[in-house]
Amino acid sequence: MTTEANTDKPEAPELVAPGGTAGYAALAAGVLPQAAGLRTHYCGALRPAQLGEQVSICGWVARRREHGEHLAFLDVRDFSGIVQCVVDGAHQLRSEYVVRVTGTVSARPEGTENPALSTGEIELHDCVVEVLSAAEPPPFSLDARVDTDEVVRLRYRYVDLRSERMQRNLRLRATVLSALRRSMERDGFLEIETPLLWTPTPEGSREFAIPSRLQHGNFYVLPQSPQIAKQLSMVGGFDRYYQIARCLRDEDLRADRQFEFTQLDVEGSFLTEVEIQAFVEEAVAEAITAVTGERPEAASRITWAEAIDRYGSDKPDLRFGMELVDLGPLFAETGFNAFRAPTIKGICDEGGGGAPRARLDQLTERAKSLGAKGLVWMRVIETDGGLELESPVAKFLSESEKSALVEQMGAKAGDLLLLVADEHRLACEVLGQLRNDLGRPPVYEGPWRLVWVVDFPLFDGVDEDGRPQAAHHPFTMPHPEDVAKMDTDPLSVRAQSYDLVLNGWELGSGSIRIHRSDIQSKVFAALGISEEEAESRFGFLLGAFRYGAPPHGGFAVGLDRLIAILAGEENIREVIAFPKTQSGADPMTGAPKPLTDKQLRELGLRLPPKKD
Ligand code: AMO
Ligand code: AMP
Repeated sequence: MTTEANTDKPEAPELVAPGGTAGYAALAAGVLPQAAGLRTHYCGALRPAQLGEQVSICGWVARRREHGEHLAFLDVRDFSGIVQCVVDGAHQLRSEYVVRVTGTVSARPEGTENPALSTGEIELHDCVVEVLSAAEPPPFSLDARVDTDEVVRLRYRYVDLRSERMQRNLRLRATVLSALRRSMERDGFLEIETPLLWTPTPEGSREFAIPSRLQHGNFYVLPQSPQIAKQLSMVGGFDRYYQIARCLRDEDLRADRQFEFTQLDVEGSFLTEVEIQAFVEEAVAEAITAVTGERPEAASRITWAEAIDRYGSDKPDLRFGMELVDLGPLFAETGFNAFRAPTIKGICDEGGGGAPRARLDQLTERAKSLGAKGLVWMRVIETDGGLELESPVAKFLSESEKSALVEQMGAKAGDLLLLVADEHRLACEVLGQLRNDLGRPPVYEGPWRLVWVVDFPLFDGVDEDGRPQAAHHPFTMPHPEDVAKMDTDPLSVRAQSYDLVLNGWELGSGSIRIHRSDIQSKVFAALGISEEEAESRFGFLLGAFRYGAPPHGGFAVGLDRLIAILAGEENIREVIAFPKTQSGADPMTGAPKPLTDKQLRELGLRLPPKKD
């Protein structure tokens, strides 16, 4: 049979936005290619406009319902949707059979229309069904209402991918990638691919190693990111680089972490920090707009120190208040021992005063598990004499301390106050975590709140030997005003490094890089890296810098995280076609697997005998 080209651009299938956010119209628009080959139309594209036309569709049998002895309703599904076919003698057809149906588009009898389907006004009559491929009974139902164990979904991922959820998530992913590419290219960034067989780099994560067959005993290392390669492309004069780059890190997996993940990786020469941020923000905003149809609010900006101070986190979630209040001055003269600490701060959980004692004990345990010495809780209650504080420690506080506390916290009757006294960073971070525990909506809940966290510290604490630890990687440029403090007070040195945070998730990070060897030597010295060690570990980069390095800097956006948020998912596995489980396995392929003895010999590897 000949297939007629479908010249009308079909109406896009409906995609339901998660979490009540803006519609996905922009994503849906233009999603369907022109039907060709075995079919004239996509299942979800048929409308009353085609009434009376003979059409051919291809897809999987979603459902078969008997209707009398011979007649059956066959729901046929492709990625665009479902169409109902009225079929004579469908006994041999089972769920997930691959079929081609040729039939006439007909109006459904009055009263049988289905407004939940894009094709709900029509059905196919006089159908000829060809079975293109038979199928065993599917390992699980693709009905969105059925909850299937994730390991089973991953074992049969090819079946799982047919589900509406996975179809929508991966199409959304492609929409994001293409919007990012458009934005970067318009801004003059050039896509350059960098090697996957790489070498160890000092970026902080554990790396995957690949044994060399040709040089036994030597290993390649899979890149944690294209960090050094992109810097070398700047030395190579490419000016503006980008890549949708796969990164590999052997770290513990979580909801927001996979071994393999994807970054929008960016680097530019002769640019300021603010200019780099603007390019990245524009690309991210365009991706969000492409998916939601709405441009997000411009990102706000906060220094790292202020983020810790006000939100107790370097990834502040700005979708809700509950800011940390500094109570130091208030308790400066207090007689309560526990409050004699360098920092004392509190948060006010509005309406949280009704929490039962067991819950408050739980919060106290949580604070202790995060390193606090304790947690003071106070219920704010209304009495004849005004607001009172109900707490085991209320008796240790003076009347004026209590009333000043209520006032400074802006507390009302029914609220719950939580206070921690400790070293500054610890007190802030414990309260920041409690703030998230108490107030944080699911990560994907709009509106999207982007924030640049800037001026991170160059060093993040000290190791056992009292040596400063690099907070980012050792090629991060210190703040120009702080270079002089590098020898005297390294922990107070700020870096020209910055993160982009979306709804409390770290979306990405970047920095201006060191391109001058005198500053690089100072940083290595502070980190306790000798010249010989630096030369042997990353001599190839330092060598390149001796041949004329432009000032440069860049950024990397974690795309799995961005896409998960946009897809309304809390776990990045839901937006990756073939992810690994929490334990790092792939239930579909069985990876990781042993190699044969021959393969091991070729690679020059010998495994120790297995212990029982
Ligand atoms: P960084 O290590 O901060 O920076 O990584 C950037 C972003 O990548 C995402 N990300 C991950 N996503 C999923 N699974 C993981 N295991 C994972 N690890 C990181 C996060 C993170 O913010 N080369 C530097 C960037 C630069 O300085 O230009 C880098 O890779 O969203
Ligand atoms: P203690 O004096 O250790 O018996 O503690 C009295 C109350 O103060 C308990 O509820 C502790 O949880 C709390 N507490 C103790 N130390 C601190 C601290 N550093 N910050 C906040 N609360 C504390």
